[in-house]
Amino acid sequence: MKFKEKLQESLKRKMPKDLLDRLPSGYAVIGDIAVIRHLNPKIDDYKRTIGEKLISIDPQVKIVVEQLDTISPYRKPVITHVAGEKRTKTSHKEFNTIFKIDLESVTFSPGNKNERNHLIQAVNDNEVICDMFACIGNLSLPIVVNRPSIRVYGIEWNQIAFDFLKQNIAVNKVSNRYFPIYGNNRTSTPKNFATRVLMGYFDIDYNQFRCALEAIENQGWIHYHSLAPRDNLEQPIEIVKQAINESGYKIEVKEIRQIKKYSPRLYHLCSDIFVDKY
Ligand SMILES: C[S@@+](CC[C@H](N)C(=O)[O-])C[C@H]1O[C@@H](n2cnc3c(N)ncnc32)[C@H](O)[C@@H]1O
Repeated sequence: MKFKEKLQESLKRKMPKDLLDRLPSGYAVIGDIAVIRHLNPKIDDYKRTIGEKLISIDPQVKIVVEQLDTISPYRKPVITHVAGEKRTKTSHKEFNTIFKIDLESVTFSPGNKNERNHLIQAVNDNEVICDMFACIGNLSLPIVVNRPSIRVYGIEWNQIAFDFLKQNIAVNKVSNRYFPIYGNNRTSTPKNFATRVLMGYFDIDYNQFRCALEAIENQGWIHYHSLAPRDNLEQPIEIVKQAINESGYKIEVKEIRQIKKYSPRLYHLCSDIFVDKY
């Protein structure tokens, strides 16, 4: 039985019939915390009952929170408590990687799990990776943990996320191969050293794309994340067109992959872009 059907079955005598349809259809689990996004305001009075039911159904879950939004540019999520213990710090394990996290302070997208796995498989031995939006190591830490010849330089400007990044590097015992850099990637991205650059953020400007190009040594990949309307997934990427015209490098979009549905109208895409400087 699906989660929503289970909820409907167990709450059918506790809430009005017309509201049963508005129950959430799913949730994500980070560590021992279940995150439900945007509960329908019409079921506000039943949030706690829903949360307690979820805790009783799923043995992994000790706490339920609702995530309302994420505030740019430091990506601070807006979290409200729904049921269980009142705490937002947890420890999440995925692809052998431990992520210490405070869900109230930093973002971690469970929907990017396939991308984390894809990157672990896609990199070649001995690559040097630049993660320009490192957060707590979301995309790049699993690569270093699972691929012993890889080195990563991860840049992050949010002090809280950066402190978790350093903690996660330590708990995963990769401080000899993961080098955190605190600062704005527009001024802190090293030059001519990387085989691959991760740009896991949507509000990227041309200055940042130029920093990604300059980070590549000779030739390599840029993984550029963007949002696109569902009816126009092949839309041209303006930033890449500008780079092709202005940089003097050979730049080619090899593939545009769908990462996840971001909202009813938008898809999260990743463009795999190959850069050849010679
Ligand atoms: C959306 S999060 C990364 C999420 C990650 N890609 C994932 O898979 O879950 C983006 C991170 O980039 C950081 N960030 C945004 N702009 C930045 C900048 N100019 N320099 C350094 N870090 C930046 C934010 O503080 C945030 O922690």
